[in-house]
Amino acid sequence: MRYVLSPSILAADFTNLGEQIRLVEEQGAEYLHFDVMDGMFVPSISFGMPVLQSIKKATSQLMDVHLMVEEPIRYVKDFQNAGADNITVHLEACKDLRETIREVHSCGLRCGVSICPDTPVDAVREYLDDIEMVLIMSVYPGFGGQKFIPEALKRIQELREMIEKIEAPVDIEVDGGIYPSNVREVLDAGANVIVAGSAVFKGNPAENTKKFMEILKSY
Ligand code: DX5
Ligand code: ZN
Repeated sequence: MRYVLSPSILAADFTNLGEQIRLVEEQGAEYLHFDVMDGMFVPSISFGMPVLQSIKKATSQLMDVHLMVEEPIRYVKDFQNAGADNITVHLEACKDLRETIREVHSCGLRCGVSICPDTPVDAVREYLDDIEMVLIMSVYPGFGGQKFIPEALKRIQELREMIEKIEAPVDIEVDGGIYPSNVREVLDAGANVIVAGSAVFKGNPAENTKKFMEILKSY
């Protein structure tokens, strides 16, 4: 299994974004996580296509786009054009998830499906053969800097068992409240793609990324 760090730029210093991204890439973060919020599916509004488009030119990291947006099917092509490699949609936000997954794949992109802390893990079971990744939220989506919800660990384990049983090549990404101090528990539970915002960009992004990478490399 491939273990990957996906730093969330939501926590970055936007006056110095290019440099911050260069630092995390240099330390080995293979993905870059974009938290797109529409003020409807979640209360907050973050950023969208133009930000992705300019960052795309500045890095060779995989653009990992997390759409916290109602009916994300409306924006799949726009994010493809802006440079997304990976589009994750919320199960709770889609009227027709099957059709949304098809739309992501028809754009030639990898598709992830995300579930909020109160959505049963079993809800993704029927899609596992059709997607590349499940994103388990370990906080309620909407804001960076929240505390990790420990029940997420059981949910990750349950999902990993489900995936192993059907031998589907599906990544498990976990997002919210992850730090070098608790990332091992998340990895031990069965996750292999780690999102970290505050833990990477608050303080020294190079040092922080290095700490995560040392742990990820030991797996
Ligand atoms: C929450 C976002 C997360 C968040 C993670 O809605 O999906 O990606 O930015 O930030 P931290 O690591 O600060 O919890
Ligand atoms: Zn996210």
